[in-house]
Amino acid sequence: MKHIFSGKRVLLCVGGGIAAYKTAEVVRRLGACGADVQVAMTPAACEFITPLTLQTLSHHRVAVDLFSSTDEATIGHISIAESADVVLVAPATADLIARMAHGLANDIVTTALLATRAPVVVAPAMNSHMLAHPATVRNLEILTGFGHRLVASDSGELACGYEGPGRLPDPDALLAEVAAALCAKDLGGVRVLVSAGPTREALDPVRYLSNRSSGRMGYAVAAAAWRRGAEVTLVSGPTALARPRGVTCVDVNSAAEMKEALESRTGASEIVVMVAAVADYRPTARASSKIKKSAGAGLTLVLEENDDILAALAKIAGPRVVVGFAAETDDVVRHARDKMVRKGLDLIVANDVTKPGAGFDTETNAAVLLGADGNQEETGLITKDELADRILDRAIALRGRS
Ligand code: PMT
Repeated sequence: MKHIFSGKRVLLCVGGGIAAYKTAEVVRRLGACGADVQVAMTPAACEFITPLTLQTLSHHRVAVDLFSSTDEATIGHISIAESADVVLVAPATADLIARMAHGLANDIVTTALLATRAPVVVAPAMNSHMLAHPATVRNLEILTGFGHRLVASDSGELACGYEGPGRLPDPDALLAEVAAALCAKDLGGVRVLVSAGPTREALDPVRYLSNRSSGRMGYAVAAAAWRRGAEVTLVSGPTALARPRGVTCVDVNSAAEMKEALESRTGASEIVVMVAAVADYRPTARASSKIKKSAGAGLTLVLEENDDILAALAKIAGPRVVVGFAAETDDVVRHARDKMVRKGLDLIVANDVTKPGAGFDTETNAAVLLGADGNQEETGLITKDELADRILDRAIALRGRS
């Protein structure tokens, strides 16, 4: 199955700071996501973590010595620079940032960084005062001017005892930034609104009606749009997922809350993707205290229909591509096509939720993308990340036509 990093060569350049120990997890995670990771280390980095650790995790000899005849014969600085699809510098210390900014090439890391033509992601990590020093600030501006992608450091307790900015972001954040650096910015500046997750319709103060949506599919769409340069807002029902990086998140519970959050944001959006599994019905009345069990007697719930949010969004005026999902269990394409026409959509993602590995609470999905333009594409079983990109590809094509 294709992953975001499948077939990609990542060159990880490790600088000499205490956060270097965290790169072990970064290498492991990149490898698990399908990347082929080559590590290069400054001499100072080797004081904080051994090349052997990163070699074991990356399954490649680590480049440490610019003048090693064996390294130069096998993984010389030019070849590691040229074969990389993307470069991550982490932790980028004040010294390494200064050397990069001024074009020094006095070790294997800075030499490879000068030689590479791949996009470069720089993750500074250091003491807060060093980070705020005008020299570091200016050097980081120079790196931005080169087109390098800067990852803002996290704030918190630092190894030197200070509290403040300067922590290396966690591996999830670094992987997200590297993935974004690999993507073409074909949604640059486009405002994308996504809904995700289930809604909860309260019965009483402790119970609700809901469904099995984990939010994964919607979060994958939001993350993919951000990677491609969009300004993304994600309106999400309750999920256990971490918020996607770079995305503005709005938390809601009920279908009514979701409707309000989406309606007020649709006018300013150019693409709307409605992935949420919205409850079609809600209890007519919410009991103000916990409904008591009365032995032997059944319980009848009276439900009333929720508004169809998507149909309402599709009526909001403006040049916009509106994408819906259809979770179906039978006659999938016919039901989905009916929904597309009835709700006035540009594209619908027909989702057979009975297929193994597809639908609710899985890492993968299988769908048929049906366009109002007559275009039909069956995806087969793919990751939700890949399906998210296919949906956005279709939305971009439809935008071009609207
Ligand atoms: O979250 P995951 O675990 O990753 O699961 C993903 C998913 C199965 C939830 C997702 O792939 C999916 O199929 N989402 C649509 C679920 C759904 O509610 O389908 P539906 O056929 O009932 O609704 C059709 C469309 O109308 C959907 O875009 C839905 O968001 C929208 N709708 C439905 C009811 C309602 N009252 N208002 C709506 O806007």
